[in-house]
Amino acid sequence: MSKNKTTSHKSFTLTNDQTGQTVKLPVYEGTVGPSVIDIRKLYEETGHFTMDPSFTATGSCKSRITYIDGDEGILMHRGYSIEELTEKSNFMEVSYLLLYGEPPTSGEYDDFVHNITYHTMVHEQIHYFFRGFRRDAHPMAVMCGVVGALSAFYHDSLDIWDPKQREISAHRLIAKMPTLAAMAYKYSLGQPFMYPRNDLNYAENFLYMCFGVPAEPYKINPVLARAMDKIFILHADHEQNASTSTVRLAGSSQANPFACIASGIASLWGPAHGGANQAVLEMLAQIGTKDRIPEFIARAKDKEDPFRLMGFGHRVYKNYDPRAQVLRSAAHEVLQELGITKDPMMELAMELERIALEDPYFVERKLFPNVDFYSGIILKAMGFPTSMFTVLFALARTVGWISQWKEMMEEPTLKIGRPRQLYTGSPARPYVSIKERS
Ligand code: ACO
Repeated sequence: MSKNKTTSHKSFTLTNDQTGQTVKLPVYEGTVGPSVIDIRKLYEETGHFTMDPSFTATGSCKSRITYIDGDEGILMHRGYSIEELTEKSNFMEVSYLLLYGEPPTSGEYDDFVHNITYHTMVHEQIHYFFRGFRRDAHPMAVMCGVVGALSAFYHDSLDIWDPKQREISAHRLIAKMPTLAAMAYKYSLGQPFMYPRNDLNYAENFLYMCFGVPAEPYKINPVLARAMDKIFILHADHEQNASTSTVRLAGSSQANPFACIASGIASLWGPAHGGANQAVLEMLAQIGTKDRIPEFIARAKDKEDPFRLMGFGHRVYKNYDPRAQVLRSAAHEVLQELGITKDPMMELAMELERIALEDPYFVERKLFPNVDFYSGIILKAMGFPTSMFTVLFALARTVGWISQWKEMMEEPTLKIGRPRQLYTGSPARPYVSIKERS
């Protein structure tokens, strides 16, 4: 099925301007998208490394999972557009697709859903682990800890060389993330943990574990459950972003999958990545009213001011983030369902979007709204506090992380990731004892 050509007759020749030395490097073409120059022999042949500190022009791996065309605003998983997947599919089916490469038959789907559903409970002792955290701990801090700690609980699926154990770990992670995320939320409220319910689907069960209480029945709102499911699909995978690359790098050292996903969670937490959805709402609250938008736009443009318009700009998308398009309409559906016809936050967001999209600074730099711009508004309307936003992102992204890790582990050889550097420190010098230092 894959047309991925990794042997190529095309090449790229580099010439050293000073010595005239030339080196011919192979060029590989993917199925779609830019081709890549294979520089693995460059050091051996020229004594030079390449320099690309934030990987703006570096491919770190081959992958068949997700494709992004940032100029056209295209996102596809296994060849299926994100628009079609959010409209016609559901998170469990998309998870299967990401993990296994093809959409499931109905039998495969049922088995997968059964497997995930029956792994949702966490070891009872994890409850005690939670209790070690301060009540006011950020739930992302809690998630970094408890997800890493899963490797201390599930020893029977830690052999990374056994495909069956890898699969069990993948299922466990996808299944237990909602349980752990809901526990982190309940813990912050001082409410009892809710055990998962196997009669509910993935999104419904998560909402139940977050908003249900033992004292009364919880009524599922299908509109909110569907919106939650869409949010999960939209965040499921996004190619080799910072957190996914972190997971792959951690995995390249043969770390266990729970430890790798914990490293992904840590990387996602930053406001330049997954933490942006929390930052968007904080920014909207800080702006407060529409008349103050110009002041904040001016600050975003001021190079002396560290302020950036949160939810705008993306390393890859130089067009409207396709996920933001879907979320924009989902946000309206959720607000309508909840009877919020005039939400000041939503109105502020739309006005900010309108002004930024017309402003030459943002237009010239191709800074469009990204996925985080609207997700926060929906999540807030559903009742989640801002501190939980990035946790929900981590929950959904777990399937992407583990699919990318699985793909890497299925490669015939696993080689540790180890970038090099341009050393700018002191050259060799003799040690001077402390008494002799001036
Ligand atoms: N507000 C104001 N200016 C911006 C913004 C912004 N949100 N984003 C980029 N710029 C400007 C930069 O100052 C720079 O201007 P210059 O060329 O005059 O120096 C230019 O646009 C290019 O920006 P870079 O920082 O080079 O873009 P990069 O690809 O490194 O950064 C990033 C992408 C981190 C997402 C950035 O746009 C940003 O900080 N956005 C706000 C945070 C955010 O929403 N993050 C979520 C990303 S999506 C995700 O992770 C799910």
